[in-house]
Amino acid sequence: CGIVGYVGTKQAAPFLIEGLTKLEYRGYDSAGIAVFDGETINVEKTVGRLAALKEKLEGHVPVGCVGIGHTRWATHGRPSDRNSHPHTDCSGDFVVVHNGIIENYMSLKEQLIKKGHEFKSETDTEVIAHLLEELYTGDFEAAVREVLKRIDGSYSLVFMSKNDPDKLICTKKDNPLVIGLGDGENFIASDIPAIIARTRKTYIINDGEVAVVKKDSIWITNREGQPVTKKIFEVNWNAEAAEKGGYEHFMLKEIHEQPKAVRETMSARVAKDHSAIIMEELKWNKEYLDSFQKIFVVACGTAYNAALVGKYYIEKLVRIPVEVDIASEFRYRSPIIDDRTLTIVVSQSGETSDTLAALKESKRLGAKTLAITNVVGSSIAREADQVIYTWAGPEIAVASTKAYTTQLITMFMLAMYMAGIKGTVTPERTKELLTQLHQIPAQISETLEDVEPIKTFAKEYGFNEDVFFIGRSLDYAVALEGSLKLKEISYIHAEAYAAGELKHGTLALIIEGVPVIALATQKNVYEKTLSNIKEVKARDAVVIGIASANDSELEKYVDHVIKVPETDELLIPILTVVPLQLLAYYAAITRQCDVDKPRNLAKSVTVE
Ligand code: G6P
Repeated sequence: CGIVGYVGTKQAAPFLIEGLTKLEYRGYDSAGIAVFDGETINVEKTVGRLAALKEKLEGHVPVGCVGIGHTRWATHGRPSDRNSHPHTDCSGDFVVVHNGIIENYMSLKEQLIKKGHEFKSETDTEVIAHLLEELYTGDFEAAVREVLKRIDGSYSLVFMSKNDPDKLICTKKDNPLVIGLGDGENFIASDIPAIIARTRKTYIINDGEVAVVKKDSIWITNREGQPVTKKIFEVNWNAEAAEKGGYEHFMLKEIHEQPKAVRETMSARVAKDHSAIIMEELKWNKEYLDSFQKIFVVACGTAYNAALVGKYYIEKLVRIPVEVDIASEFRYRSPIIDDRTLTIVVSQSGETSDTLAALKESKRLGAKTLAITNVVGSSIAREADQVIYTWAGPEIAVASTKAYTTQLITMFMLAMYMAGIKGTVTPERTKELLTQLHQIPAQISETLEDVEPIKTFAKEYGFNEDVFFIGRSLDYAVALEGSLKLKEISYIHAEAYAAGELKHGTLALIIEGVPVIALATQKNVYEKTLSNIKEVKARDAVVIGIASANDSELEKYVDHVIKVPETDELLIPILTVVPLQLLAYYAAITRQCDVDKPRNLAKSVTVE
């Protein structure tokens, strides 16, 4: 989502709308603003793109010099007028806009309902407005601090109060927030593009800091309430670079967003003591799970590659047979489905027409259906019996990156959730796996730290016309995604092969100097993969190995090695895909391709 705030001497609404327009890439399913007119806070909001809000405001733009605004990418609560931000308490005196996820909102909501609060939306955010009303005893800032003590999760927040109309209070945790310094006016935004046309002087707010923003002063304190002296950060990006968060392309930005994205995917779904996965959205029991004889996972493109990993997880951890299908094949091949079948569809956009058709076909034949998608309220989300949202935030680049890793995390959590119900994984192993899962975001960050070797490979091999990816088991599934990324954006002919299958044809294509990316992270097939690597080396291929940090063997047999942090081999695909995404990205840069908009491809394919 995107958030903005204004306090000054000019009219707030024009800036709010202008700022939100610049933040539409952060979310576009609904938008709203709240402005204080000297007596009350007027809230105007609507579902749909910002254009819908602009239309709604035509002829009666709210008047006043203090205001906040929001453009939404739904997580809790489908896109609707009521679920749009800003959210208010019962009295309408306190108004809030929020980016992020409040993990404990359900329990807070229950407590507040008992105290007589009436809720108007299904969002986690509305809880914050009511909580503020409940805790307010005359001191706005003190009440905000009390709210912060009670909420868990990730957020950037801007608060507005009718009782203190000269100020806005903002704060953040794990979500961005900047204050733009003006002359007799100040601006708040989740991201720099919103304010860049008004000022280049900013304060970048850190986690836990609380800022009280008035038209001619900004007072920032830390979590403990002590004053913080901040340095002014002068923005020297142009508007386009600012939209991409300073990255050259959305794809690179999204690759770097993965630690945050997967953290959000896990948020509120991994028990604090790592003993279980909690899936509030499913509420399955053993009887329900036992009724399934077979599971289909159906998807297209990158989501299909994620489904392959999902099959592995479910079969390994839950021991239910899983078939993975390409959606455009599934719908025309009369799949054997009845009421003992569960069909899981995976789709970032929730709009891919073949996937939607496969879902409808499954339903028609009597299957139970579950969607894994990133877009709340999308066609697939509405059509499926149940939904797990990946909460990755909007993905703009055509080549999918953070959607894939969040789909893997979701698939893993789903398998562990099912295993928890069926008792197919011991409590000790569960704890071990979930502890490792918890470390994945930090490990992705680690993987992203040293990209220089990858840039060098991309430069060196970027002009080869063919590249092969090999691996076995889960490494093979990741190889498929690595090769898809490369061909999508660099137009290099890339093929992924199960390493053991090489001898049955592909080996004929391996000649001197052909780059082969070999993934070797899976213990039970490690030696076998090594033999396959030796086979391609014997034909003078150039081999780049992808290995775990604790592997000191692979480097003896390959030309270069890229290592990823050590984790359980079930989870390692979430790490090994990262260097492959970067390799594709830098190969595309070397070849001067249009990274974010590759030729002939679309982000969402809504035709057959
Ligand atoms: C298109 C996109 C891919 C995506 C695929 C499936 O081909 O370019 O990045 O993986 O569609 O999209 P979905 O939204 O259903 O995941």
